[in-house]
Amino acid sequence: SVPEFVKLVEVGPRDGLQNEKDIVPTAVKVELIKLLVSSGLPVVEATSFVSPKWVPQLADAKDVMEAIRNIEGARFPVLTPNLKGFEAAVTSGAKEVAIFASASESFSKSNINCNIEDSLIRYRDVALAARELSIPVRGYISCVVGCPVEGMVLPSKVAYVAEQLCDMGCSEISLGDTIGVGTPGTVIPMLEAVLDVVPVDKLAVHFHDTYGQALSNILASLQMGISTVDSSVSGLGGCPYAKGASGNVATEDVVYMLNGLGVKTNVDLGKLMIAGDFICKHLGRPSGSKTATALNKT
Ligand code: HMG
Ligand code: MG
Repeated sequence: SVPEFVKLVEVGPRDGLQNEKDIVPTAVKVELIKLLVSSGLPVVEATSFVSPKWVPQLADAKDVMEAIRNIEGARFPVLTPNLKGFEAAVTSGAKEVAIFASASESFSKSNINCNIEDSLIRYRDVALAARELSIPVRGYISCVVGCPVEGMVLPSKVAYVAEQLCDMGCSEISLGDTIGVGTPGTVIPMLEAVLDVVPVDKLAVHFHDTYGQALSNILASLQMGISTVDSSVSGLGGCPYAKGASGNVATEDVVYMLNGLGVKTNVDLGKLMIAGDFICKHLGRPSGSKTATALNKT
C-alpha cells in the first residue's frame, strides 16, 4: 500500500536552476515560483544562500526572497551551507532553511569544501541558531546510494549522517540520489538502514533521473511509507559539483503517477504544465517531463 497523501517539495527554482550556465533573470525566477505556487504545490524551494563564487546562478537569492515575500499558499525554504548563509537568509525573510550534508567524503569536499564531520559541526551551529528563531530546518543527505568519485555508498554511512541530522533537530531529512544511479535494488536497503534510526514521517526522497530509475525508486519509497517526495518542474536540474548528474525527477511525471495511484497531492497537473512551459520557453529547451511532452501533443 502507499500513503493517501504525498507532500511534494518542488525544487525546480533551486536544484533545477543552480546548474544553468546562463544567468536566469530574477524576474523569470519569481514568475516561475508564482506559477508553481498557483498549481497547488505546498513547498517551493526558492533559492540558496551559498557562495556566489560557487553557484553564480543563485547570486540573486536576496532579491528573489524579497520579491516572493507576499506570496501566500506555500512555504519557501532556502539552502544555507553555514551561519553566514543562514543569517543572510533570515534577513531576507526566509522562514525555513535546509542544510545539506553528504554520505560520501569526496562529494562533501567538492560540494561544500569540507569533510563530513566538519560539515556536521557547521550544521549544528546553523540548527542551533534556527531553533532560537523557531525556524524549521530540513537536512539533505547527498550521494545516498552512489558517489561520482567513490562509487557505491554503504547504507550504514547514510544512516549515520541521518541520525546526526535528526539529533541536531532537523524536522525533515531528504535522501538524495544526487547522480541518479540508484535502483530499487540499492534504494530499498538504504531506506531500511535509515528507517532504523529516523521515523518514517520525517523522511523525504530526492531522486535525480539520470538512469530513468526515479519513478520506480519513488514507488518503492512510497511502499515503505515515505510520503514526502522532492521533484523539479520539467525535470530541470543537476548539481554543479556532481559531474554527469542529470535533472531531478520531473514533478509532472510524479503527479501523473500519483494521480494514477489515487494519491492526493493538491497539485493541478494542467497548471503545473503552465509553469513547465514557461521555464522551458525561457531556457529554449524541450521539457524533460515525459508526461508534459505527451500531454502537450494531445
Ligand atoms: P569556502 O570557499 O570553503 O568558504 O566555501 P569560506 O568559508 O572559506 O569562505 C570563502 C568566501 O565565501 C568568503 O568570501 C566568504 O565570505 C564567502 P571572500 O572573503 O572570499 O570574499 N561565503 C559566502 N558567501 C555567501 N554566502 C555564503 C557564504 N559562505 C561563505 N553562505 C561554501 C564553502 C559552503 C560556502 C561553498 O562551498 C558553497 O557555497 N557551496 C555550495 C555548493 C552548492 O550550493 N551546491 C549545490 C547544492 S547541494 C545539491 O544540489 C544536492 C541536493 O540537491 C541533494 C542531492 O541531489 O543530493 C541538495
Ligand atoms: Mg539534488
